[in-house]
Amino acid sequence: MAHQSPSARFAELEHRAELGGGADRIARQHAAGKLTARERIERLFDPGTFEEVDKLVVHRCRDFGMEAQQIPGDGVVCGSGCVDGRVVYAFAQDFTVFGGSLSETNAAKICKIMDQAVKVGAPIVGLNDSGGARIQEGVASLAGYADIFLRNTLASGVVPQISAILGPCAGGAVYSPAITDFTVMTEATSYMFVTGPDVIRTVTHEDVTKEELGGAMTHNARSGVAHFAVADDDAALALVRDLLSYLPSNNVDDPPVAPTTDPSDREAPELDTIVPASAMQPYDMHEVIGAIVDEGVFLEVQQHFARNLVVGFARMGGRPVGIVANQPAHLAGVLDIDASVKGARFVRFCDAFNIPLVTFEDVPGFLPGTVQEFGGIIRHGAKLLYAYAEATVPKITVVTRKAYGGAYCVMSSKHLRTDVNLAWPTAELAVMGPEGAVNILYKREIETAADPVAARAARVEEFREAFANPYVAATRGFLDEVIAPRTTRMRICRALERLHGKRETMPPKKHGNIPL
Ligand code: HXC
Repeated sequence: MAHQSPSARFAELEHRAELGGGADRIARQHAAGKLTARERIERLFDPGTFEEVDKLVVHRCRDFGMEAQQIPGDGVVCGSGCVDGRVVYAFAQDFTVFGGSLSETNAAKICKIMDQAVKVGAPIVGLNDSGGARIQEGVASLAGYADIFLRNTLASGVVPQISAILGPCAGGAVYSPAITDFTVMTEATSYMFVTGPDVIRTVTHEDVTKEELGGAMTHNARSGVAHFAVADDDAALALVRDLLSYLPSNNVDDPPVAPTTDPSDREAPELDTIVPASAMQPYDMHEVIGAIVDEGVFLEVQQHFARNLVVGFARMGGRPVGIVANQPAHLAGVLDIDASVKGARFVRFCDAFNIPLVTFEDVPGFLPGTVQEFGGIIRHGAKLLYAYAEATVPKITVVTRKAYGGAYCVMSSKHLRTDVNLAWPTAELAVMGPEGAVNILYKREIETAADPVAARAARVEEFREAFANPYVAATRGFLDEVIAPRTTRMRICRALERLHGKRETMPPKKHGNIPL
């Protein structure tokens, strides 16, 4: 073989690394509606900022003829770059190289950048597109997964971790994204499941397609595993960039402030009439959020899952906030198992990363029924309560209408160390709604009355007058103030400024025992 000059050898290796599994497999990737790993990396980072590591790493497998099939980089592109000028570490699995499967060396590359990201305090983004453990490597590849899971766990709460699922993600491989903070899935090209349709058919005799079992909408609307569903790779990478813009680089940094032209003291007169006169009538909490946050821009998280609770990021006075809001337009805004789990995880994320919490409350209580009780609403509802109680970031609550029963306590009430508790004049803070209360307290009286309907109506009115308002709570200091709805933005922006230096700690302990 002719001697190659060092620079020619280098050029050849670089070329082979960049070609991955070759032109045919790249064409197949494109035909499937997917970008290659390198194209994804290019779109994720600011132009010209990505620096790759371990581009020439190859696997060490000597079995099944693998010795002759070594592709520099070994199926994963790893490195760091900038997103909006801030450092971010990322790995992108290359499906064109052994189906993006995870080998021992490929896992070591991922671990290397995860370790480095934690050392420098930078977010980690994983672009997943893989056939799972590299079958030829056996347990060495499983070990690689476990090494990654450990790092996901150690990095949790230290640096933000985001997973984009842009192809297959099956078997135990799903547990890395599951530990990360946010999971984005592309519609039609991605799927996640622990066991696939074939195994399910054999074991449980169920017939299910990959899409039904683990497609983007299954995990966004049904299982709650994923947080965002987007049309394609381009949209996924744009979304990851957008999401990062709300997040600090690590748990000791403040979230990035963005300049805004929206005045902090802007009034929103439409809020004065947004709550319908009848307590039974719904309204859309998105409209309340949109009228209050900077430029009306709200990045909703898990918008298709547990729609009775709305969570997401926005900015107020340029500062990122985490919004948690009951949604009267879906199931009357009731708290159920899914909403509790969704809310708890979001609250804990914001608390871990110094993002103030703004809660809009209109909640008739916890959802009754055997499905909820047998499903463990006690244990799951407690998660949201626990998350709010332990959160030490600035907390602001605005009660727009109902704050009934246990849900009153849970939804960032004053008693859970909430800093600023405000209410609109339409707020009702009570053990339960007037109708329910009267049915219990005056059951016999109503039954025996000459005119039960009139007797009932009179008692309901009496109860409404006494309890269905914000003033009893305000006289006790459980609410700091009753405010005109139109001034809500100004009041929240001002509170956020005053609370910026908040320092609150937890009693020393190894960790708490959140009811899982
Ligand atoms: C090695 C793999 C591979 C794997 C795919 N390939 N998966 N090589 N190890 N796990 C290779 C294929 O041989 C093929 O090589 C190329 O990648 C593309 O695969 P295709 O099957 O042609 O692609 P497609 O039809 O799109 O199907 C994709 C797929 C399928 C659904 C992912 O490849 C598949 O089912 N793979 C196996 C999935 C699996 O069971 N993995 C183990 C899961 S358990 P050529 O040379 O033809 O291009 C697991 C445990 C994790 O991961 C444990 C953590 C604790």
